[in-house]
Amino acid sequence: MRYELTKELETGNAIIDREHKELFRAVNALMDACSKGQGRAAIEPTIKFLLDYVNKHFSHEEELQQKNKYPNIIAHKQFHVTYTRKLRDIVNAIPAAGPTVSDLSTLNQHIAVLVTHIRTEDKKVGAFLNGK
Ligand SMILES: [Fe+2]
Repeated sequence: MRYELTKELETGNAIIDREHKELFRAVNALMDACSKGQGRAAIEPTIKFLLDYVNKHFSHEEELQQKNKYPNIIAHKQFHVTYTRKLRDIVNAIPAAGPTVSDLSTLNQHIAVLVTHIRTEDKKVGAFLNGK
């Protein structure tokens, strides 16, 4: 399965949407790397890229919210912190021999949480920014 920024996931903010697209590309790259049955070392660069990109993107979103005085910024930021921490824990748990089926399932479930966050919370941010 490939993650894709479908129309219903668009927030209407060009920066956020572009970064979400890039984020999905990073997730797909990691999933592809994981599906090759390689050890952890081989997938390490895609893990690192994803973690870095998530951090960068969340900071951009928070800056946008800060600058525009988005009313729900505290809760949104809190989600970002918790989400990033759990994502880091999940990828850190991948053993040297490579991801197990259960690792992949945990990872996919956590990506699904992000997709839901985009569909609900990020869309609210997009609507707010567009209404300004
Ligand atoms: Fe967000």
